[in-house]
Amino acid sequence: MTGRLIAVEGGEGSGKTTQARMLADALGAVFTREPGGTPLGEQIRDLLLGTEGDAPCDRAEALLMAAARAQHVDRVVVPALARGDDVVTDRYIGSSLAYQGVGRGLGVAAVAAVSEFAVDGVEADLVVLLDVDTAEAVARLDGSLDRIEQAGDEFHARVAAAYRDLAAADPQHWVVVDGRGTVDEVAQCLQAAVAERLP
Ligand code: TYD
Repeated sequence: MTGRLIAVEGGEGSGKTTQARMLADALGAVFTREPGGTPLGEQIRDLLLGTEGDAPCDRAEALLMAAARAQHVDRVVVPALARGDDVVTDRYIGSSLAYQGVGRGLGVAAVAAVSEFAVDGVEADLVVLLDVDTAEAVARLDGSLDRIEQAGDEFHARVAAAYRDLAAADPQHWVVVDGRGTVDEVAQCLQAAVAERLP
């Protein structure tokens, strides 16, 4: 495989999706997202984030995230990397570690094992954490919140802390970018950080 896989991670309302798209455009990379990125994955996303019907228990949530990821890796990520394309994914394994491992309290090691099974060795070459103030970001959310956005301030504070811990524990793969500033300012910092780490 010759392309590079870059994951953009962060909490809710961090502007992550906009930044991930801009990064993909700048690199001429394939842009994709999780949970989703494939027809099956988008169906799983609806099951995970919908607020109607039977909510998955925490372990079911972790397994459904992993199932969507397995499909995404097999159908989108691996073929693109094999063609030599770079891939930018809006969320990847880091989301499961932060949200299910720490946010839901399932444990980082257990959730990492499930994700490892799902991705079969396809790790991100670089994980960009877009770091914003959690309270501010959650306050920016408006309109109808999905099931995970509704999980509460304490949950989201745990997720934000988990992301910082994950980045600090693995500086070889993670880079933290300050999410404060205008969209263009943040994009410039983010793209510079990626260019430095993946020349
Ligand atoms: P996303 O569409 O990125 O939401 P937003 O743009 O609002 O940040 O992600 C959907 C939700 O799924 C988000 O709340 C995070 C959650 N999620 C997990 O809990 N675990 C995972 O492994 C992934 C990929 C996402």
